[in-house]
Amino acid sequence: MASNPVTTSSAPAAPGIDDVRQEPGSGLWGWINARFPAAKMLKEHVTEYYAPKNFNNWYLFGSLALFVLVIQIVTGIFLTMSYKPSAAEAFGSVEYIMRDVEWGWLIRYLHSTGASAFFVVVYLHMFRALLYGSYRAPRELLWILGMLIYLVLMAEAFMGYLLPWGQMSYWGAQVIVSLFGTIPVIGADLQQWIKGDYYISDITLNRFFALHVIALPLVLVMLVAAHILALHEVGSNNPDGIEIKKKKDARGIPLDGIPFHPYYTVKDIYGLGIFLTIFCAIVFFAPTFGGLFLEAPNFDPANPMLTPAHIVPVWYFTPFYAMLRAVPSFAGTQVWGVIVMFAAIAVLFFLPWLDKSPVRSVRYRGPIYKGMLAMFVVSFVALGYLGLQPATPLFTLFSQLFTFLYFVFFLAMPWYSRIDKVKPVPERVTYHAH
Ligand code: HEM
Repeated sequence: MASNPVTTSSAPAAPGIDDVRQEPGSGLWGWINARFPAAKMLKEHVTEYYAPKNFNNWYLFGSLALFVLVIQIVTGIFLTMSYKPSAAEAFGSVEYIMRDVEWGWLIRYLHSTGASAFFVVVYLHMFRALLYGSYRAPRELLWILGMLIYLVLMAEAFMGYLLPWGQMSYWGAQVIVSLFGTIPVIGADLQQWIKGDYYISDITLNRFFALHVIALPLVLVMLVAAHILALHEVGSNNPDGIEIKKKKDARGIPLDGIPFHPYYTVKDIYGLGIFLTIFCAIVFFAPTFGGLFLEAPNFDPANPMLTPAHIVPVWYFTPFYAMLRAVPSFAGTQVWGVIVMFAAIAVLFFLPWLDKSPVRSVRYRGPIYKGMLAMFVVSFVALGYLGLQPATPLFTLFSQLFTFLYFVFFLAMPWYSRIDKVKPVPERVTYHAH
């Protein structure tokens, strides 16, 4: 294992360029720091946040999610300058943005592609947590905050999708809002309350706009701040699933930790370069992404009198949509499908308590967990595909099978994670210098 000069030495380090820069100092920087803890915060969260030195590329997705959040907010602000949140004008105003507003097409495609990119990045970010057991104690709250972000992100994307007031905006919203109508006793009133009307109307569009541009982004930003604070409180996990805080040098710095800056700022910039290459290629050459990112029926204005042949949500919702359709309606109510769909998301909150394995990382887990994880990935991707297809009897049968397997992964976890054969976990993280 290569030794790391930054962290393994027990002698006090000589002050470096970073130490000098962080000092409260004189001049404007000193004036600010006498009144606001800028230097202190930079030290705590950037230059002296010690992250494990063995991060791999799975650890790029958190900072990428942060970057996409910024893209969405900035492009969203510019879209709002020309968008009209009314049933009569919304569709036309989006066309106006696309055709007449200077660079409007770019702003819109950055925002619509950004929505899909957000989910790609967040799904990979969440999967990393499954690989390395990052949700396990003491990171349960970090995980729960992440799950709340995921919920708000789904609400944000759903409400945003109504705004262009295209056919799929309208009918997609109709399907999802009507799900609330299946709830016994309060369903009908609840549905009407959400719409603010008897049908999806101008009023619904207006309130979705308010929630999409201000309420939910505010909540999202606050949750992300709490997520990062929680992360820095407990410290990052790593691909070995070892707690680096257990082995510290004389200065109290983890032996396997390196300062976030410059080591991971540089690595994150490299990741950003790759991400932007793919992202820009899609924005410039395939913004609809074959109908996955922007669905074809959404280029037609909303028509309450004409139901599209297949109402399909955007790809990031389709695994859950497939589950909803997999459950047959009993006694004339679809409520069981709705329950299964919500349970599929709710079960994720309990992950930290379902996993009883003595080890965290997949690297040291046994064949059962690896098999189960592979089964989970196949089920989730298959459900995503099935949710995009018409609900034929064969596809419905497959949806039922994969919904079952999805739940098996979680609900059987307390059992199989306990009996699985695990490998010995090393004392220190595994790291090979390049
Ligand atoms: C806007 C969305 C999100 C942003 C901006 C964000 C940001 C971050 C950042 C910057 C990190 C540290 C770098 C890294 O580990 O990749 C992180 C870590 C983490 N995030 Fe997120 N996150 C988001 C959503 C989520 C979601 C939806 C979950 C799970 C439900 C989640 C769970 C975690 C966990 C468990 C860690 C610690 C990973 C480890 O140390 O191994 N995050 N997040």
